[in-house]
Amino acid sequence: MKLPMGLVVDLLLGQRDAAMYVLNHPADIKHVLVTNQDNYRKAPVPPVESRIFGQGVLHTEGEIHHRRRRLFLPFFHGNHAAAYTDLITGKACDLVGHWQHGTTVDIEHEMAHLTLSVIWRLLFGRDVDSEADTIREAIAVGQSLIKLQYDSLLASCTPLWVPTKLHRRFTRGHRSMEAMIRRMIEERRTASHQSDDVLALLLAARNADGRPLSDKEIRDEIVTFLLAGHETTANALTWTWFLLAQFRPVQERLACELNQVLGGRCPTAADVPRLRYTKMVWEESLRLYPPAWSLHTRVAHAQDRLPSGAVLPSRAWVFISPWSLHRNARWFPDPNRFDPERFSDEAKPTHTPYSYLPFGAGGRRCLGESFAELEGLLILATVASRFQLRLVDGQTIQPEPVMTLRPNVPVRMVVQRIDREEPHPAVV
Ligand code: HEM
Repeated sequence: MKLPMGLVVDLLLGQRDAAMYVLNHPADIKHVLVTNQDNYRKAPVPPVESRIFGQGVLHTEGEIHHRRRRLFLPFFHGNHAAAYTDLITGKACDLVGHWQHGTTVDIEHEMAHLTLSVIWRLLFGRDVDSEADTIREAIAVGQSLIKLQYDSLLASCTPLWVPTKLHRRFTRGHRSMEAMIRRMIEERRTASHQSDDVLALLLAARNADGRPLSDKEIRDEIVTFLLAGHETTANALTWTWFLLAQFRPVQERLACELNQVLGGRCPTAADVPRLRYTKMVWEESLRLYPPAWSLHTRVAHAQDRLPSGAVLPSRAWVFISPWSLHRNARWFPDPNRFDPERFSDEAKPTHTPYSYLPFGAGGRRCLGESFAELEGLLILATVASRFQLRLVDGQTIQPEPVMTLRPNVPVRMVVQRIDREEPHPAVV
């Protein structure tokens, strides 16, 4: 589908007939993300996004991007990620340890706090404490401003020094975050002890010319992992609780698996492969509510013919949305129904390749995928084996596509200890 971007964008880009091409066919998507990926670059981002992220691995291209991916891949993969099992389970236990039977929580807030505490340890090897609220506030304001700049050309052209209320809040939060990260880098540069965390990895890394990374390069990577590595997982978990609360049979089957595999104890790395139904629930939730609801827009370098026969001109902007792909009845029958069976060992091989893309594909596929899955499964297992979460009545919760797919309002849920659960009417 071709969507003209209009005269103003034509003028800004210095390009006639600038258009966004929305890809809906998995074969075309595979072509752009994998087969002919070298023909595509990420499109420029609004000023505030660029200011927040800088030039971390999410936004760089070419040789620098390859080099950084090679640096990070071993850290977030396989056995190394599994070493964080105790950390994740411990943090999840701490969280539910504060929950009182029958009280109401804002589940998105709880999940974001939890995933922030995990990523902070991964980045800096220490616990987040008083900084947590400042960081969450700065991220929320940054997200609102990024959304405004995507939605309104005027907003994206208005410099940050223009003292709007949102600009002032953003600048305040941004400064605090910058100071916090600068302090961490300075402290570590002068510390005598060794650590096994992302900051240590970055301090030991070298650029192609052999020089160490500058503070700015380290800061950009840290912010990238801080944002990409906790907000997404928190969203995924929030939507999973939201879905589970509405589908009683799924919740019961999950509880049954957790009982069988864990029998009341905390999950370990060895349990993860046995949490098969938990994984099906996680995957189906990512299908219905992919936190990365759209991939970063790509720009074609040269003209390209797609497998469907469509021709993308040079400089075409290419839009790929996991949300619309996952909810297309052609790839997932009855697509709006929550049905973890779609991800059983028998059903999975029947999926059309590249119709399910919660983590993207190709050379820019999510670096934290294995880690996110490990974290998601362990948190689901730890929490759901102790508590049942019910939605507070009367809420209208809709997905809001910002940088990630967030609920439009706080999701209020009542937490009930499983051993103290009382009979209740069936939920839809
Ligand atoms: C459920 C959780 C997550 C989801 C759904 C998710 C989704 C994605 C997607 C779709 C992309 C590709 C974007 C594109 O091609 O335009 C991506 C990239 C990335 N993700 Fe994740 N992510 C998650 C968790 C994480 C975690 C936990 C980390 C780090 C610890 C992480 C780090 C990154 C990084 C660094 C990239 C950039 C990769 C590159 O450009 O080479 N993500 N993520």
